Amino acid sequence: MYDLIIRETEIFDGTGAPSRRGDLAIEGSKIAAVGAPSQSAREIVDGTNLALAPGFIDVHTHDDFAVILHPDMAFKTLGGVTTVVVGNCGFGPAPWKPASRFAATVDPRPLPQWEGFRGYMQTLEANPPAVNVATLIGHGTARHAVMGLDAREPTGAEMAAMKEIVTEGLEAGCVGLSSGLIYDPGRHARTDELIDLASLMRGTGALYATHMRDEGLGLLSSVAEAIEIGERAGVPVQISHHKASGERAWGLVTQSLKLIEDAQSKGQNVHADQYPYTAGSTSLSAVFRDGAFGGPGRETAPKNVVIASAQGHSDWEGRSIEDLARAMGCSAPEAATQVLKQAPGATIIIHMMREEDVRTVMRHKSTMIGSDGIPTLDGKPHPRLYGTFARVLGHYARDENLFPMAEAIHRMTGFSAKKFGLTDRGVIAPGKAADLVLFDPKKIIDTGTFEDPKKTPLGIKAVYTNGQLTAQDGTATTARSGRTLRRA
Ligand code: ZN
Ligand code: CU
Repeated sequence: MYDLIIRETEIFDGTGAPSRRGDLAIEGSKIAAVGAPSQSAREIVDGTNLALAPGFIDVHTHDDFAVILHPDMAFKTLGGVTTVVVGNCGFGPAPWKPASRFAATVDPRPLPQWEGFRGYMQTLEANPPAVNVATLIGHGTARHAVMGLDAREPTGAEMAAMKEIVTEGLEAGCVGLSSGLIYDPGRHARTDELIDLASLMRGTGALYATHMRDEGLGLLSSVAEAIEIGERAGVPVQISHHKASGERAWGLVTQSLKLIEDAQSKGQNVHADQYPYTAGSTSLSAVFRDGAFGGPGRETAPKNVVIASAQGHSDWEGRSIEDLARAMGCSAPEAATQVLKQAPGATIIIHMMREEDVRTVMRHKSTMIGSDGIPTLDGKPHPRLYGTFARVLGHYARDENLFPMAEAIHRMTGFSAKKFGLTDRGVIAPGKAADLVLFDPKKIIDTGTFEDPKKTPLGIKAVYTNGQLTAQDGTATTARSGRTLRRA
């Protein structure tokens, strides 16, 4: 007797292979049988006219603290996500002090304390969220812990202290090291520092993920740096949120994709992730620094910068810096300075990509899907936080025909699991974890907009994390069946 059978459904197994009709049986937390199960089950779900895929793996998240503060993780489970990779863009969940300081800029709710990455994982295991969590070590957070925000190279002793942090994370089971080379303090690191730290991962299977130094006119040299780090450290590379940012850089993705292809043809393991929108989102302090927007090659028009969250100033949320400046009766830089003074952790949405580039990157074989959502649940976050996966499936695969549904699913399941070393997930096969999404391929679509972003996607019938129902018909359940995933 199985626990559950989903009958007569169109099964996409996550490998990219075409779908086939059949039944799927779950026993406990695992997939027990695929095809025509011999036994009956305690519960039968009719999958007619629906499709079944592996649970979506969000390889690029900033959910490090949300999984503790909001364990229902409804903003992810309702969109079909069963696994999140946290610790991206150089911001990781340990050491606790700089990590919790960063956390407070995203969500003011108080956090418990933990010791190192081991302690973070134990905290999650004591109070599991509804999604599985794989963790990256954040270079910026490690550097912050050791040398504050200093704009200089580390001393030998400081380098040793950073290595200790990375080593603890790797031993705890982290899946890689991330960098954020536009942020403080990550941007002060030279290439050699990153190679030195990434080298600790050689032979472990852990990867180097990077928010590169420059996604604008400097895109190509930034991709070259990421590839160099991977090559010299001997580790796989994941380029985060691959894009060309700013009008003058539009079109460069054709060449950055070529750089990835060249590295791959030399045998290097290099891929990228992407969110399916022409606007990004980050902290205001990252785009407005020293009284000016942008920086060389990163020009930013104040009308394209919209406040997503500003603690204590919800009236600013949804308004552009240009609009705020007009209301305040001052210049745009003055308005931005005011915002940062009163809400230092303010986040923004920034309109800076070209649709054609988004499609060029998405179609490319090196690209998997990651939301890069910032869980500022009290503000007006970028709609990618809720809608990324439904948008790729409904909008880009089905409506725009960018690629077949099986291929789109592969890029958020099997492909992602393989890259991040999540060996028992991402594909539908007997013995694999029962992380599953049952959805209507004719109806699935994101519904959030920049004006009204906190919207549940349509067409997702049921989501199972380790065999437990975490979301059903647009409502989150009380199941907290997510596991802490450690590097194999
Ligand atoms: Zn980033
Ligand atoms: Cu990010």
